[in-house]
Amino acid sequence: MKDILTLGIESSCDETSVAVVKNGREVLSNVINTQIDIHTIYGGVVPEIASRNHIQNISFVSKKAIEDAKIKYQDVDAVCVTYGPGLVGALLVGLSYGKALSYAIEKPLVGVNHIEGHIAANYITHKDLKPPFLCMMMSGGNTQIVLVKDYNDFEVLGKTKDDAIGEAFDKVARVIGLGYPGGPKIDRMASLGKPTIDLPKPSFENLDFSFSGIKTAVINLYHKNPNLNKEDLCKSFEKTVSEILIENIKKAINNTGIKTIVLAGGVSANSYIRNSFEELEKDGIKVYMPDIKLCTDNAAMIASAGYYDFINNKTSDLSLNAIPNLKLSE
Ligand code: KG4
Repeated sequence: MKDILTLGIESSCDETSVAVVKNGREVLSNVINTQIDIHTIYGGVVPEIASRNHIQNISFVSKKAIEDAKIKYQDVDAVCVTYGPGLVGALLVGLSYGKALSYAIEKPLVGVNHIEGHIAANYITHKDLKPPFLCMMMSGGNTQIVLVKDYNDFEVLGKTKDDAIGEAFDKVARVIGLGYPGGPKIDRMASLGKPTIDLPKPSFENLDFSFSGIKTAVINLYHKNPNLNKEDLCKSFEKTVSEILIENIKKAINNTGIKTIVLAGGVSANSYIRNSFEELEKDGIKVYMPDIKLCTDNAAMIASAGYYDFINNKTSDLSLNAIPNLKLSE
């Protein structure tokens, strides 16, 4: 069978990325231009600045992805682009570029849901991974348990009622003075601490989550006592958050009988969370997690998800628009 090359484009937040992937699993190139340094001085992503930088970078990043893959634009079989969820102005840059490229090279356009992209990052890391499985999706904008029935068939079993888990990491980091991006900074600080501080955990009958209570508890504790050991505070925060995730994933395993767990999204780079999930393997659960560099936003994951849409004839036309609050399976 002929190899299929998908070109992925990702610009939903502050990374401009273009990648080429073979048959959904093999990365030929994955160029990521991050704007972290630009937004750090503001303490978070400034949407208008992100859009402007995407405009400046997208053509260069795309050319580099083609060069690195050692192909020509004409060799690409489908142009796969994130159309949501994300920042509307940022999404529109990648989407407009993707539409123009698809039109120019006369190859199909595939609109990709960014959340599906995060899940697909695992198909690149683990060549043997196939649905069905349960996905613990943890990013800056999303926290949900997804039943992945097939490559294009998803059911959300539970989700956060308030903050996303990454948002909680970022807000805690900002308040205790670690700055942006918060997740990796908390991760590093926690590695030096002990989990000595009790923090509240929400309790739901179903598989939903809440992270605003623990976030507020950490912030209040710190405001009352700014001399609190930050390393211990970060470790206690990570431990409690991990327990919340593990308790719900165990319920999902019991409810569905599915014993394959896949982590996805930026927060799946967290070392404490990765270790906590690895512990489940002792109970006969198979746990997959993406390679660290594929946890956060990148276009290879979009090219992989787009491949599975493309081979299932899920292509888009040039009327495709950005949908900032796109849900899974829309
Ligand atoms: O998936 P992602 O790159 O963007 C979205 O699609 O939302 O996730 C970004 C989130 C941020 O909140 C960032 O702080 C968090 O992932 N993150 C981490 C770590 N690395 C990134 N959180 C905890 N520990 C990490 N090592």
